[in-house]
Amino acid sequence: MTIYLNGEYMPIAEAKVSVLDRGFIFGDGVYEVIPVYSRKAFRLMEHLLRLQHSLDGIRLQNPHSDDEWANIFNELIARNSGEDQYLYLHITRGVAKRDHAFPNPPVKPTVFMMSSPLPTPPAALLQSGVGAVTAQDNRWLRCDIKSISLLPNVLLRQMAIDAGCAETILIRDNSFMTEGAASNIFVVKNGKLLAPPKDHLMLPGITYDVVLEIASANGIPHEVRKIDVTEVHAADELLLTSSTKEVLAITQLDNKPVGTGKPGPMFARLHSLYQDFKRNVMRA
Ligand code: PDD
Repeated sequence: MTIYLNGEYMPIAEAKVSVLDRGFIFGDGVYEVIPVYSRKAFRLMEHLLRLQHSLDGIRLQNPHSDDEWANIFNELIARNSGEDQYLYLHITRGVAKRDHAFPNPPVKPTVFMMSSPLPTPPAALLQSGVGAVTAQDNRWLRCDIKSISLLPNVLLRQMAIDAGCAETILIRDNSFMTEGAASNIFVVKNGKLLAPPKDHLMLPGITYDVVLEIASANGIPHEVRKIDVTEVHAADELLLTSSTKEVLAITQLDNKPVGTGKPGPMFARLHSLYQDFKRNVMRA
């Protein structure tokens, strides 16, 4: 595997970062995950815009122009095997003496990027759906920043794994649903697709946008609004989306079946439209 680190391409085993890197010491950085279909970065500009939003959120200057990023992405894709990959991009505030305050004068940010084979969900999982648990969303109030400080997400996701499930659905203030530990969540009720609004309490998913666009383009009833915790538990269907999971049905929640306990008609429709979209738009 060839990776990119601070202007150089190298085998991953040769990539080294200082122990004083602020990413290592403070989790002081941001990241992106970008799927690659047929060797083309998907929704490049949208990912770069989200990256800029994250960098602005942590007051870190963007080390590259959009064109420079695009060149690095393309070079890394070309140097790795597989038509479908996913890029992991990680920027930290750089290497400095340990002090919480920003280094002054600023130091060069650390830029790391790697590409891995894109793991799409296996057919068996699409057939069965996955289990989820609910938990209190105990993260900070800037979940719109794709921060590398992922300890809350790590602990929340592990709750699902410990319960034999795939994802944890997060409930803020015992009141409303925000998202999953590493995914966005949609609720389906009476044939309508419901999505929580993009705000500071959730990551604005690129897949989330695609699903809502697909719903609009195909006349699927949908609404973006705050979703009460009671609606999550009374859902006919629950769906999970992310770049690496695409669209997945959640068929068990807190050990109880969601709707019929099988992937429902909204999942079938959206999954099939998503596959069409991949074929006709992403790969085109
Ligand atoms: N995570 N919400 C959270 C908290 C996430 O971590 C992710 C993605 C999403 C979905 O965003 P997108 O559709 O752009 O992938 C929502 C990535 C895949 C990760 O951390 O590996």
